[in-house]
Amino acid sequence: MSFITHVPGTQPVSPAIKHPKALGVGVLGLHEGRTLLFGINTRCTMVRSVAGCDLSNEKIAASRTEYPDLFYSTDYDAMLGRDDVDIVAIYTPDAHHADHITRAFEAGKHVICTKPLVNRMEHAARILEAGRKSGKKLFVGQSTRFFEPFRRQRSALERGDFGGLAGVELVDAHYIHRMDWYYRKSPWAANETDWVFLGMSHPIDLVRWYLGSIRQVHAVGFKSAMGRAFNVKGNDVCLVNFIAEDGRIGRAMGHYGCHELPRARNCIECMLYGVGGSSLARYHDMQYIHTGVGTRSTDGQFDAGEMEEVVEDCLYAGRHYYFNSEVHGMHYGEFANYAEYFGLALINGSDYSPGLEEGVETYCVMEAVRRSAEIGRPVDVEPLLKDVGLR
Ligand SMILES: NC(=O)c1ccc[n+]([C@@H]2O[C@H](COP(=O)([O-])OP(=O)(O)OC[C@H]3O[C@@H](n4cnc5c(N)ncnc54)[C@H](O)[C@@H]3O)[C@@H](O)[C@H]2O)c1
Repeated sequence: MSFITHVPGTQPVSPAIKHPKALGVGVLGLHEGRTLLFGINTRCTMVRSVAGCDLSNEKIAASRTEYPDLFYSTDYDAMLGRDDVDIVAIYTPDAHHADHITRAFEAGKHVICTKPLVNRMEHAARILEAGRKSGKKLFVGQSTRFFEPFRRQRSALERGDFGGLAGVELVDAHYIHRMDWYYRKSPWAANETDWVFLGMSHPIDLVRWYLGSIRQVHAVGFKSAMGRAFNVKGNDVCLVNFIAEDGRIGRAMGHYGCHELPRARNCIECMLYGVGGSSLARYHDMQYIHTGVGTRSTDGQFDAGEMEEVVEDCLYAGRHYYFNSEVHGMHYGEFANYAEYFGLALINGSDYSPGLEEGVETYCVMEAVRRSAEIGRPVDVEPLLKDVGLR
């Protein structure tokens, strides 16, 4: 077994120098959204923060102490009316995303929307129509994809290691996290959304990212004792099996009322079993663990005897960048990575992922999971894609 701990380019950070074409970002919702403001200020060159909006004057006051030079308002339309806002970044409660996205498109803005993109079928149809009409771009802030080990895991497959993306045969992803603190901070999390969207959006996005379009899901769900105590709207414990269009398979698990055992199982993990090797990415211990790349024998198979286990441990080297120098912390690095990535894609006119259509498709997979757990039978995804106008 070998260990690698060096993370290139992730030293302690200071205010980033901006590119002359850097795009202006206005952030809506200044709790988790403040993490983005901080990430943009210290880590990004292709985007700069210009405005912040929240219904709460306290949230604005707290943000103003850190960033006094931004434009602030409790009125979303006032932020949307500004010429220096090129991208609106939305971090409001899940049920408001569709309204906020639609209004941003109508104001001629590009959009970053945190996960989950939406949590209702009519909302999915509405944002798809508004996005197509406006011609503006939307990026879904699937933060997990932009965390160091998950980036490394993906890059390895994209360059063809372990049999490449097409060689992934089984995906096993989970997000488990005890959420009593979250219900106390944000009561909407218990009664205005469903954990299949709020939490399961992480592992379901990972499964869909690796397997491609999903044909069918079969889910079971349950309300934990803690979830029942907070009167959660949907299930907060969930297991799902997925079959992709091409027959490959995956599973996802979520539990939001559990007692965590992070040393044994990090809160988000993605395990990939491919024809040429296996890999595991872990949030938030920041480890990427994988078999050696191996050598192909003449019949195209891999010789397991030549593989070693490699642990790429980025926790201490990457903590300055990802966690703002704590050992574990908020999403500074991931949010900055995706804002930079989307800004660069807009400036260069290049492809990016996940965009509006991919985000709506992933929403449909989540809704299929919700329905499957409700009726106790497998659910096909295709009819939902038709219902929202994707097919
Ligand atoms: N890993 C991640 O990417 C990640 C992590 C945490 C939360 N999130 C997502 O971010 C979103 C916000 O989560 P949070 O934990 O910050 O919630 P929160 O309840 O702490 O904060 C939401 C903020 O939005 C403001 N707000 C509500 N309605 C508004 C409106 N109409 N106009 C302006 N401001 C409004 C509230 O005043 C509040 O400050 C959720 O969709 C959540 O799923 C994503």
